Amino acid sequence: MPEAVGEAPGKVILAGEHAVVYGHRAIALAVDRRTRVRLRSRPGPSGIDHSAIADPRLWPALATLLPAEGVGLSIESELPVGCGLGSSAALSVALIRALARAEGREAELEELVEKGFRVERVFHGNPSGVDHTVAAMGGAVLYRRGEAPVRLRLGRPLRLVIANTGTPGNTAEMVAGVRARGHAAEIAAIGALVEEVARAVEAGGPIGALLRENHRLLRAIGVSTPRLDAVAAAMEAAGAAGAKLAGAGGGGVVLALVEEAAPVMAAAAALGCEAFAVEVPEG
Ligand code: MEV
Repeated sequence: MPEAVGEAPGKVILAGEHAVVYGHRAIALAVDRRTRVRLRSRPGPSGIDHSAIADPRLWPALATLLPAEGVGLSIESELPVGCGLGSSAALSVALIRALARAEGREAELEELVEKGFRVERVFHGNPSGVDHTVAAMGGAVLYRRGEAPVRLRLGRPLRLVIANTGTPGNTAEMVAGVRARGHAAEIAAIGALVEEVARAVEAGGPIGALLRENHRLLRAIGVSTPRLDAVAAAMEAAGAAGAKLAGAGGGGVVLALVEEAAPVMAAAAALGCEAFAVEVPEG
């Protein structure tokens, strides 16, 4: 196999996590933190030469796509695992791109979505597919399970701060917990709220209160933690229009909508979070 490299971005969910598992729409945004996969030929069984991601699910997931023999793989990643930033999805898309390039071609969206699901299922059991779809498409995406994803056109840029609480969560466990507890009314309310967020974002209207309501509903379905609540409250107290946990919860990141990033990043840092700013452009 000739040497080949593939890469893909992480993501953050603006609204609709968990409800998307039940057929509602979610809004996901690609973030410019990436995972890169490098392939080379090596004698004997395929295997990992080097990996920035240490996770027991890693090899079984990669093995769904790699040939059994002859491929060595190196993984570099700017995405922490289990933090709601779609690290496994970025990895799967990066790997599929690299494998296609090793064959002298570029992977199409359909191939990324179909094969990405195989990898994501090993990591997360029965995911909705939103994470690897946005990793494959980039930009802002409206996603519903089983439908072609739709690109969301922003009426004005979104300025966000993402703060990592440093405690990972486990997506499969969080999704299973929500299923076991039920929460049908809150799931339906999240689904309805996503439609409001989508209309507001397209019109360039305010969404701070909608994000705060999304966080409240996520807390009601039992996926927030005292630390996620505290970080979201601190970011709002520092000037964010709204903040919510993003991703499966149980740990991971808080996303805040801001006018000015610096004071909100400082508030998150004061609580021990690594924070970074993201600007999603208009259009
Ligand atoms: C994870 O990024 C989002 C969840 O809705 C799970 C999924 O969609 O598979 C919690």
